Amino acid sequence: MLRRTDIEGGYLLTLEREDLSRIYPGMVRYTVRVRFDGKTRAAFRTNTYEYTPGMPLDAGESARETFEEWARELAADPGVFIGARQPVPRVGSAIPVTDVLVIQGSPRAGGNCSIMADLAASAAREAGRTAQVIFPDDLYLRPCIGCYWCYNFAQCTFDDDMEGVIAAIRGARLIVVCTPVYTDTVPAALKMVIDRCQAYHAERALFGGPEGQTGLLLAVAGRTGEENFGCVRTVMRDFFRNLGIGPCGEVLAGGMDRARDVRTVPGIENRVRAAVTACLKSDAGETAIATSSGLPPGE
Ligand SMILES: Cc1cc2nc3c(=O)[nH]c(=O)nc-3n(C[C@H](O)[C@H](O)[C@H](O)COP(=O)(O)O)c2cc1C
Repeated sequence: MLRRTDIEGGYLLTLEREDLSRIYPGMVRYTVRVRFDGKTRAAFRTNTYEYTPGMPLDAGESARETFEEWARELAADPGVFIGARQPVPRVGSAIPVTDVLVIQGSPRAGGNCSIMADLAASAAREAGRTAQVIFPDDLYLRPCIGCYWCYNFAQCTFDDDMEGVIAAIRGARLIVVCTPVYTDTVPAALKMVIDRCQAYHAERALFGGPEGQTGLLLAVAGRTGEENFGCVRTVMRDFFRNLGIGPCGEVLAGGMDRARDVRTVPGIENRVRAAVTACLKSDAGETAIATSSGLPPGE
């Protein structure tokens, strides 16, 4: 603890410094906290990754200034100080928690990914699990701005639908990501979800998280050839790895450009169903149990 001040009326104001270099090299987090009756009534956090060298303040200075400002405000009137810092209710649609979460990354409704996503969800339900499909494109989401604020309270600075998405990921046993290849990578709204999961990475790094979750990739591309999936595979591998999700397989289908082309791929329905069933049966953390190239004949 760097500083501690007892304020009249039983309030305790502290400034703490923590080394978070186990998460990122050199990361340090400062916490200014007001306690009353043993409970935290207000807290401010900041970390060194929020600041660039050209900024007029750094994390330590910002925390010390906040400490001094709060000490003055508390001494003047603790009731007004605490009242002004009630938590703001979060907005955003509620997303239920299910055993299997299918994230359907294509913005094209009724397209190839929608078909595969529905197959995956129905296979999960047939296996006796609860399942849902969510559509990043229909959610109210802002892109990650790289502020690193999430390493303060394991929460994002934005109040939008991402909190529900993270709750659904946290609670799922199997996460299925269904994506088309867009300019070699995943579509923008899905990428937003992936990047905004940095807040979930922060939560896991700071407090831990569920173990034994698995992730399945279902992907389609307009061009033929497995090399078209290289970047998507890398993005998804890193996404799963960052969140401690063990990859449990993939189904890839190339040569799909029209909205329902995937229906013409022989055996695709069985491959998707089999991959979901195998992932659900796999032991915690087991990797790549259902890998299938899933490409049309000749590729
Ligand atoms: C903006 C955009 C970019 C695309 N980029 C690629 C690409 O780089 N490589 C490829 O093979 N297909 C590409 N495609 C084709 C899609 O992957 C293909 O149409 C896919 O079937 C779409 O899936 P959906 O029906 O689920 O929306 C692109 C399509 C769009 C609309």
